[in-house]
Amino acid sequence: MPVVLVAEELSPAGLEVLSGDFELRYVDGADRSALLPALADVDAVLIRSATKIDAEALAAAGRLKVVARAGIGLDNVDVAAATQRGVMVVNAPTSNIVSAAEHAIALLLAVARRVPAANQSLRGGEWKRSKYTGVELVEKTLGVVGLGRIGILVAQRLAAFGMKVLAYDPYVSVARASQLGVTLVDLDELLRRSDAITIHLPKTPETLGLIGAEQLARTKRGVIIVNAARGGLVDEAALAEAVASGQVGGAGIDVFVTEPTTASPLFGLDNVVVTPHLGASTQEAQDKAGLAVARSVRLALQGEFVPDA
Ligand code: MLT
Repeated sequence: MPVVLVAEELSPAGLEVLSGDFELRYVDGADRSALLPALADVDAVLIRSATKIDAEALAAAGRLKVVARAGIGLDNVDVAAATQRGVMVVNAPTSNIVSAAEHAIALLLAVARRVPAANQSLRGGEWKRSKYTGVELVEKTLGVVGLGRIGILVAQRLAAFGMKVLAYDPYVSVARASQLGVTLVDLDELLRRSDAITIHLPKTPETLGLIGAEQLARTKRGVIIVNAARGGLVDEAALAEAVASGQVGGAGIDVFVTEPTTASPLFGLDNVVVTPHLGASTQEAQDKAGLAVARSVRLALQGEFVPDA
């Protein structure tokens, strides 16, 4: 019976697709010393974002045929090394786009209306109204960095809040953007004109550190920054300094350069709302991702054609 290694939590619906015809084994993929030996004799491995399938892991997996990423980002998989070894890499590119978009908006609203700080204050026995005065989104300018599947959903939803939407994405045409009701601009103009900026890019050598001290210095004073895409796209130390100086009015951050983490220069700052990489953590997204990749693994290990998930 082919063996499938489940290296991170997968939805029961996904596991159900594999039960019966495959031996399921479990390991904590974030624990390298457990992962590498566990890969030795498996046919497929199922991961989310905490498990790194790099050249070393692939070399330890002599029988591996499929790496299945229950989610979108493939920055934790060495796709080129896998391809070289004849290992198929599958993901679920639309499974969590709505969840990620909704989480980015939740962070923006939480920062704009100071919800977590006010919640904490009231529970701590204070009734302070003026201290937690927020800002409205209507008629403000939103800058979307990366107008891909998630960026588009965020743009559409926040346009319904009455925001004017700018976007920076060198791969999108002006015609497509205007069809979406979005004004395409270069990064510099987006930084200068936006009241809130939200990042929706994959992590690549080109996007890493895209928003650093220099870029933050060019934003409107008091801008809100949201990053629910990947840690490191916004430089954490530079952002913390910009929030502390008031250049950035607040930030909503779901992703960190090192994950998991319980320490970041952002954690001590009042108007920063942080969550532990929860963008895809909804029942619906996990079911969709688990089902999609489990179906792909099933087809691949049975030697059948694997359509796009
Ligand atoms: C993704 O790339 O799909 C997300 O970061 C979700 C995740 O792995 O939790």
